[in-house]
Amino acid sequence: MSDRPSRLTDPGPSELDPALRPKRMDDYVGQQRVRENLRVYVRAALGRGESLDHVLLSGPPGLGKTSMAFILAEELGVEVRTASGPTIERKGDLAAILNGLQPREVLFIDEIHRLPRAVEEVLYPAMEDYQIDVVLGTGPGAQSIRLPLSRFTLIGATTRSGMLSAPLRARFGIHAAFDFYTPEELDQILKRSADQLDLPLAADGRRELARRSRGTPRIANRLLRRVRDFAQVEGDGHIDLAMARLALSRLEIDEEGLDAMDRKILEAIAVKFSGGPVGLDTLAHAIGESPDTIEDTYEPYLIQQGFLQRTPRGRIVTPRGRKHLGLPDTPQGSLL
Ligand SMILES: Nc1ncnc2c1ncn2[C@@H]1O[C@H](COP(=O)(O)OP(=O)(O)OP(=O)(O)O)[C@@H](O)[C@H]1O
Ligand SMILES: [Mg+2]
Repeated sequence: MSDRPSRLTDPGPSELDPALRPKRMDDYVGQQRVRENLRVYVRAALGRGESLDHVLLSGPPGLGKTSMAFILAEELGVEVRTASGPTIERKGDLAAILNGLQPREVLFIDEIHRLPRAVEEVLYPAMEDYQIDVVLGTGPGAQSIRLPLSRFTLIGATTRSGMLSAPLRARFGIHAAFDFYTPEELDQILKRSADQLDLPLAADGRRELARRSRGTPRIANRLLRRVRDFAQVEGDGHIDLAMARLALSRLEIDEEGLDAMDRKILEAIAVKFSGGPVGLDTLAHAIGESPDTIEDTYEPYLIQQGFLQRTPRGRIVTPRGRKHLGLPDTPQGSLL
């Protein structure tokens, strides 16, 4: 995937927001079910003095998977080593990382679905039996030795749990799937962020931002920073409802929180492809975006909100999507 310039609502994977990142379980807003279960597993592991079972965190970008991984390590009172799937190119690199782990430490692998397959295979015995096979030398004299590892915890994060191989998925004892946040939860997150950034954010302005943040904390925080800019330069610094609306309109974020690319996707399906169904690659080509980005970043929210549907034959725009675009209802019988 190429590095595109990030748009405002693009929850790019690399953005770190250390100031606003929740540090403890109690600071973490939302994802109640995930949070409560993880709290139990952490407490149980601590009580037994054991390592936490391996954890898979899955869900769309910007929902707090990385934050949760660090919180888990914090609550466990252990160090975290971090790595990213696509950057571990050789088996030996992963073997070295695993070998360096102390008992109960956390290894966090982001984008774990992008780990090369050969490298992934090193993880199977490491996760299951806490050992790896290392080959010494080359050619006929090469020798394979079995190296024991400390009992560690692997935390994997993925925006695409469907792309994980079955053997890898099966080795995670704990699966936590992240959902979009409600406007009320985002409101709470924005309140906390505004306090931390020392911003005068009125309740009505906050509600408006929360409602139009695509259910995503990272987007909420990013919108907050941009609205702050507008308030500072074009207002008196205060962020109220009018200022929030002004900034959101300047950023081309509509009433439903959709941005220009969201609308471009819906419009392409509705107009260019007569409502669909259209295949992902065809759609991607038509709008000049990568299929991966459409699938990981844009579609989940459009589907969750009922603007778009995935069918076996491709993507279609729903009546709600057409209505949002201001298009007339689909002529009877042309779809589905
Ligand atoms: N539950 C939460 N409470 C408060 N703030 C949150 C929460 N979740 C996420 N955030 C904010 O959103 C930002 C993005 O979260 P994070 O990096 O953990 O998401 P992610 O799921 O790992 O995304 P990606 O898949 O893109 O790596 C954080 O830096 C933090 O500011
Ligand atoms: Mg992350």
